[in-house]
Amino acid sequence: MNRAVVEACGTPFDLSLEAIAPDKSISHRCAMFSLLSDRPSTVRNFLRGEDTMASLSIARQLGAEIEDRGDVIRITPPAELREPDDILDCGNAGTGMRLFCGLLAGVEGSFVLTGDRYLRSRPMKRVTAPLQSIGAKIDGREEGNLAPLHIRGGRLKAFRYESPVDSAQVKSAMILAALRADAPSHYRESFLSRDHTERMLRGMGVSITTEAEGWICITPPKGPLEPLDITVPADPSSAFFFAVAAAIIPGAKVRIPGVTLNPTRIEAFKVLEAMGAAVEYRLHEDIYEPIGEIRVAYNGRLAAVEVSQRIAWLIDELPALAVAMATAEGTSRVRNAAELRVKESDRIASVVAALQACGIETEEYPDGYAIHGGVFRRATIDSHGDHRIAMSFAIAGLLCGMEIEDIDCVATSFPNFFEMLSRITEVQI
Ligand code: S3P
Repeated sequence: MNRAVVEACGTPFDLSLEAIAPDKSISHRCAMFSLLSDRPSTVRNFLRGEDTMASLSIARQLGAEIEDRGDVIRITPPAELREPDDILDCGNAGTGMRLFCGLLAGVEGSFVLTGDRYLRSRPMKRVTAPLQSIGAKIDGREEGNLAPLHIRGGRLKAFRYESPVDSAQVKSAMILAALRADAPSHYRESFLSRDHTERMLRGMGVSITTEAEGWICITPPKGPLEPLDITVPADPSSAFFFAVAAAIIPGAKVRIPGVTLNPTRIEAFKVLEAMGAAVEYRLHEDIYEPIGEIRVAYNGRLAAVEVSQRIAWLIDELPALAVAMATAEGTSRVRNAAELRVKESDRIASVVAALQACGIETEEYPDGYAIHGGVFRRATIDSHGDHRIAMSFAIAGLLCGMEIEDIDCVATSFPNFFEMLSRITEVQI
């Protein structure tokens, strides 16, 4: 198990982050959705993280031909998805497992989805229960809640499903299942979760329309979809670690080009702005997604903030935001964020434990935490195998130095994170 020692960063930095990790959510979807066409998809800037490479390997096991030319990956789908002769390993990826459940539920054959020990302990009932209710045959430990999951794909009924969680993974699994159902299906969530699936599938020719009272209607296509031709934008969730770095180090600034400006993904930048950081957005193009540049600069000590709305739009950035909150003047609070408990680790417990180790006063709530802004102290942090905890506290290390244990997980989403961090400070692995 590797550890990183991050030293305090002595001088302000002005960083242009051309090589920020490509978007994880969109990369997973490229690997999966290319299977729905009958022609090759072209994907540039695919995230070469362990999570998304696992999805690409699964696409190959299902019969796709993957031609990896370095900067471009060409994915040629099979005429019919193939029943694989081995298990499908999603690694650490909840997105991989939940979306493949929806994609495979309507495909003839037997499929076993598994993952690492962290993924095998995460709840899958949120997708397996609604899929079972429309005819999918899925089984797993705890009555289909825990992987390994066995799917025996078959005919699916159209549905009208109102999700109890605002989750893009649940929504995407159900949309993928709806593509193979026997009639148009309807789906509703109480607050719009990230909408890459809707945007990309519409771009591939699927009819997904918005109806009254927040329902969307998904019509099964009559034939194969248009292939994807896409350049994956930079991942705002990965970029956000460096945005926090710029917001807490006096005199620092970062420029993040080619990043998705999808409103369901950049809410954390808005919160950082509300805390007093200087943040600018420049829209450059709109291909599947609005894409542009974000600039963040230090603008004095941050002020405390309360976050309890639009949680689905910043759920992945809350650990890094917690580091910003810990430096702010006053008490910040996060509420309505119980979903944090079922991420790659229980992120409420991991954030609170790590902040306390750093001498920051915190209180834990069932659905969030309070953070009393103060001064970080160097500590040894256990990542709990969670990439976002490891990276968030590496950023806190810029203030006072930090030792992070169990950093291998960073490779799931941002393989060059420490290399990039070493452009601003001394890092030893
Ligand atoms: C994701 C959706 C979110 C997010 C995850 C990626 C996606 O999960 O936390 O990192 O790509 O659909 P939920 O949909 O479970 O909230």
